[in-house]
Amino acid sequence: MTRPATGAVVTGGGGGIGRALARRLAAGGARVVVNDIDAAAAEAVAAEIGGRAVPADVATRDGVTSLVAAARDHLGEIDLYCSNAGVAAAGDEDGAAAEADWQRSWDINVMAHVRAAEQLLPGWLARGDGRLVVTDFLSRLSNPESSISIMAADGSPALASAATAYQSSSVFALSSAPFRVQSSGER
Ligand SMILES: NC(=O)c1ccc[n+]([C@@H]2O[C@H](COP(=O)([O-])OP(=O)(O)OC[C@H]3O[C@@H](n4cnc5c(N)ncnc54)[C@H](O)[C@@H]3O)[C@@H](O)[C@H]2O)c1
Repeated sequence: MTRPATGAVVTGGGGGIGRALARRLAAGGARVVVNDIDAAAAEAVAAEIGGRAVPADVATRDGVTSLVAAARDHLGEIDLYCSNAGVAAAGDEDGAAAEADWQRSWDINVMAHVRAAEQLLPGWLARGDGRLVVTDFLSRLSNPESSISIMAADGSPALASAATAYQSSSVFALSSAPFRVQSSGER
């Protein structure tokens, strides 16, 4: 899953799928930065795997910026960024969500990935390597046949993603000439 000494970031790594990702990456030899909005949860996972906890709210631009900066400080290079944190849309008993709930959901389930890519892509393009993995959710709604991956045009896994947002992946790809969108075919 990873080469030795890979520097990895896992958002929402304090629980659920993110905790499993952090554990697996550490077991594979990666140095892992564990992010979560729940500082105690991030600390607990980091302590368990010998990683570094960086609590932050990745639903905000400032949160993503501070996480990327702290991770670069600790890791030197971010080789792999697992943009995993996400929330189910809140709603009342009839399923109706308030405006603020929609905005919160948009900020974490879509914009967190866009903001991370904005910060990571320039450096990755310069050095020709880097991976963004987005825990899939909404792409299944927009494309039931597959998830989206972004790979380097030469086929190397510069970026690979099961993308949360079809549209945001397309934006990354279109704005990053050496990269192309690739369907993983994963269900
Ligand atoms: N569990 C499923 O069946 C399922 C299915 C499809 C997709 N997903 C997606 O997988 C991802 C992880 O899901 P999960 O089931 O592990 O969820 P979870 O609720 O078990 O864990 C999510 C973690 O993210 C953290 N988090 C929430 N908001 C955050 C924020 N703003 N900043 C930083 N951390 C934050 C939480 O504290 C929690 O530790 C989500 O993006 C979710 O949409 C889950």
